[in-house]
Amino acid sequence: MTSELTYRRHEHQPTSNIYSPKPSKPWSITIRPIRYILHEQRLIFTLIGIVLATFFFILIPSSTTNKPMSRPTQLLNPRPVFNTNRYNSGGKIPLGLKRKGLRVLVTGGAGFVGSHLVDRLIERGDSVIVVDNFFTGNKENVMHHFGNAGFELIRHDVVEPLLLEVDQIYHLACPASPVHYKFNPVKTIKTNVVGTLNMLGLAKRVGARFLLTSTSEVYGDPLQHPQVETYWGNVNPIGVRSCYDEGKRTAETLTMDYHRGAGVEVRIARIFNTYGPRMCIDDGRVVSNFVAQALRKEPMTVYGDGKQTRSFQYVSDLVVGLMRLMEGEYVGPFNLGNPGEFTMLELAQVVQETIDPNAKIEFRPNTEDDPHKRKPDITKAKDLLGWEPKVELRKGLPMMVSDFRQRIFGDHKDNDAAISSSF
Ligand SMILES: NC(=O)c1ccc[n+]([C@@H]2O[C@H](COP(=O)([O-])OP(=O)(O)OC[C@H]3O[C@@H](n4cnc5c(N)ncnc54)[C@H](O)[C@@H]3O)[C@@H](O)[C@H]2O)c1
Repeated sequence: MTSELTYRRHEHQPTSNIYSPKPSKPWSITIRPIRYILHEQRLIFTLIGIVLATFFFILIPSSTTNKPMSRPTQLLNPRPVFNTNRYNSGGKIPLGLKRKGLRVLVTGGAGFVGSHLVDRLIERGDSVIVVDNFFTGNKENVMHHFGNAGFELIRHDVVEPLLLEVDQIYHLACPASPVHYKFNPVKTIKTNVVGTLNMLGLAKRVGARFLLTSTSEVYGDPLQHPQVETYWGNVNPIGVRSCYDEGKRTAETLTMDYHRGAGVEVRIARIFNTYGPRMCIDDGRVVSNFVAQALRKEPMTVYGDGKQTRSFQYVSDLVVGLMRLMEGEYVGPFNLGNPGEFTMLELAQVVQETIDPNAKIEFRPNTEDDPHKRKPDITKAKDLLGWEPKVELRKGLPMMVSDFRQRIFGDHKDNDAAISSSF
């Protein structure tokens, strides 16, 4: 066997031991190194091929899809927007399971604004989870979604942590009317600070986009009129309204810190006075107060001289603004309100026109820290979100009156039609 192998090896050996190079061709001097590389350095070529392919697949797609941000975005977002592919944040879906639509968490979703927002999200086809402790909200506001597979309601206080898999978080949980937020001020500031921290922590953990519903109260008793988002406000840090005003200011700070520090995608809305169906009756907010009093044939209470001004936004306009902000590319903050300005006396007059021309007005001393003027400058929302309110006070008020009449007197006539026609 050995001899056979030895024999075969020798078969291919040149018969002569004398080395005789082939005659060189004129072009062979330049071609030879290339031929050498081609024939003998295959491994190197394979490696070069792998490196080129890696560059091609990694660099080229990302440079075409990640378009540079527009200049306004760069100015508004202290950092670039993160996790733009949030709808697919769950990674690969195992075989046999269908990819679900957008999963949206609405904290405070059983309240006035929250319940209208939930209606709109469900209508759009999203899966909605409402988290609410029912302090000022109630189940009746969302009961019409019970039985819908895309709707879940969880009784939970946002001051306690919670883990849910969602793509977006609308964070509304917080009592909004002075009567309610002054009822337990320590709880109010806890809701704003600890509750917001918990929801931001959740957003960070699951890669969800987070929208904070802040308030025009962050401007306090403003020294600038109308209020633009760049105005830092005139706020009393130790007054009876501070649990709400300073609570919301801290919530904004936390939101921006999670954005800058942890890369959470955030949005901030500063909401101005909003009214509409499902507002708490007797919650001390001026529109609900006037409407309920006029319906019950009680005098409408005007605090102070009635010359303080407010703007009144119909709830459907606000919901459109919130959704546009959430879906848009700008962090904010954005003023969302109706720039139409009314004195309290003018508002009382509109209520008289709508409900009862003989309704009386009663003057009472003004409450502490009540701002004198409030009117949003909504230029930023108009320019960057393409949003502005559409419903005038004289058109929106009758829809609210119809809902209040039904809840106060149990008169069902026209109520459902009024709520749905508002969108
Ligand atoms: N409506 C307005 O005019 C207005 C103006 C400015 C800002 N906002 C903001 O919009 C949001 C919604 O306001 P709204 O008018 O619908 O008020 P609302 O009181 O009707 O709704 C708040 C909801 O949050 C729930 N909630 C309160 N504390 C909670 C907690 N600790 N845990 C879980 N749920 C809790 C309540 O039960 C209620 O359902 C609030 O954050 C408010 O500050 C509203």
